[in-house]
Amino acid sequence: MQEQREAHEEILNRLNRRLRTLSQCNSTFFQAESEQELLQSICDILAAGGEFRLAWIGYCENDVEKTVRPVARAGDGLDYLERVKISWGEAETGQGPAGIAVRTGKACWVDDIRTDPRFSPWRVAALARGYASCIAVPLIAYGKPRGAVDLHGTLNLYSAQCNAFDENTIEYYTGLATSVTYAVTALRGHLAEDLTYGVMALRASAERQRAQDALLAAQAELARATRFTAMGQMAASIAHDINQPLAAIVANGNAGLRWLANTTPDLDEARAALQRIVNEGHRASQVIGSIRAMFKKGDQEKAALDANELIREVLALLDGEIHTQRVSVHTELIEQLPRVLGNRVQLQQVILNLITNAVEALGSVTNRARVLRVKSKLHESGGVLITVEDSGPGIDPKDIDRIFEAFFTTKSHGMGMGLSICRSIIEAHTGRLWVSPGIHHGSILHVVLPTSELGAE
Ligand SMILES: Nc1ncnc2c1ncn2[C@@H]1O[C@H](COP(=O)(O)OP(=O)(O)OP(=O)(O)O)[C@@H](O)[C@H]1O
Ligand SMILES: [Mg+2]
Repeated sequence: MQEQREAHEEILNRLNRRLRTLSQCNSTFFQAESEQELLQSICDILAAGGEFRLAWIGYCENDVEKTVRPVARAGDGLDYLERVKISWGEAETGQGPAGIAVRTGKACWVDDIRTDPRFSPWRVAALARGYASCIAVPLIAYGKPRGAVDLHGTLNLYSAQCNAFDENTIEYYTGLATSVTYAVTALRGHLAEDLTYGVMALRASAERQRAQDALLAAQAELARATRFTAMGQMAASIAHDINQPLAAIVANGNAGLRWLANTTPDLDEARAALQRIVNEGHRASQVIGSIRAMFKKGDQEKAALDANELIREVLALLDGEIHTQRVSVHTELIEQLPRVLGNRVQLQQVILNLITNAVEALGSVTNRARVLRVKSKLHESGGVLITVEDSGPGIDPKDIDRIFEAFFTTKSHGMGMGLSICRSIIEAHTGRLWVSPGIHHGSILHVVLPTSELGAE
């Protein structure tokens, strides 16, 4: 139990650190006045974040040795970069993470510097400075309007721990490298005076300030929430539910930078992206607020809600993912249902988790239609019944009793928290949540919620 709690605290702490790093990097993207200042600030932020001993950015030179030249650096043991030779050519000094990342256009990492044969040219110098694992992420952005932008460089991070780079970490820093690439492209555009004026105005604008405030508020909420981790599960709940708005913040940040990087920056689109960042920031703090309320007992804000509206809102939110996965959605929503009594954000979260699971299950279906059915109707108990049904592979009978347990997952990326969060929320609403097999394929998740008249009795 104690160990589990520590593991949860660690997840929350890491998330909190990354949120802070992200918010600081976002400010730098908009405020840096030169490329050098931008790159150095990013290294400073990453080294100060405590996750890495050394952060540096290198650009490829077209000399005979194909040198990767460090152009910004921060952290411990900076003389390392003066001692070692790093190349992006085919020679031995090009077989390290930076060389491979440049040549392949993909992140490359070394889990254990002591043993990885690719790292032998730099091993002694790296171990002497306490580096145990490292990653190089190429400075490339793949964007639709302008095609790929490749700065021919890498962001390089060195950790004091072995195996510091799991899938999430790699994905996160790849996203950051994309943002850096867009930001550098925007700066290199040497925007004409009048455009610079526009960008300055945007920087100073109330939207920008509000986006930052929202991020800071989310961060403060996280910090405050850390103190409540006696309920270890809560840390994991936050990590689970906050990922969505965080991903949207990163995506919109990138979109904003892209609009600014265009030959003719589109300030309206950039402003719209910032507005979406603000909205997602609010959503993040709402999620945290409502999870906290859930564990505090008795002070949940409940209202009479239209179940069909909740379903439609969540489907709209997941529209992109549903479309990408080529899932066809059928809704059978009975109108004029009585209103349910509940907390809007929490119930949205439940429906979101159930539909996300269904869409994830449908991802593996290749030999029949990928169908998601969402229904609402009056339940015999007098409450409202919502069902989420998919034509996926279904749930293995041996797992059926375990799927609502925290940390039970059969997915390589899963935390196993979705259904356990759903169940705590539904039980706190005095409702019921259960699963049954689909008629031909797949699974059906059922939720019954009391109506506002029943709840008020
Ligand atoms: N619609 C579904 N079809 C098939 N299996 C499902 C479905 N919903 C849930 N499961 C099973 O239940 C497990 C637990 O689901 P849960 O939502 O709690 O966690 P998860 O989806 O694995 O991870 P995450 O924490 O990201 O939600 C899943 O890993 C999966 O095996
Ligand atoms: Mg899930």
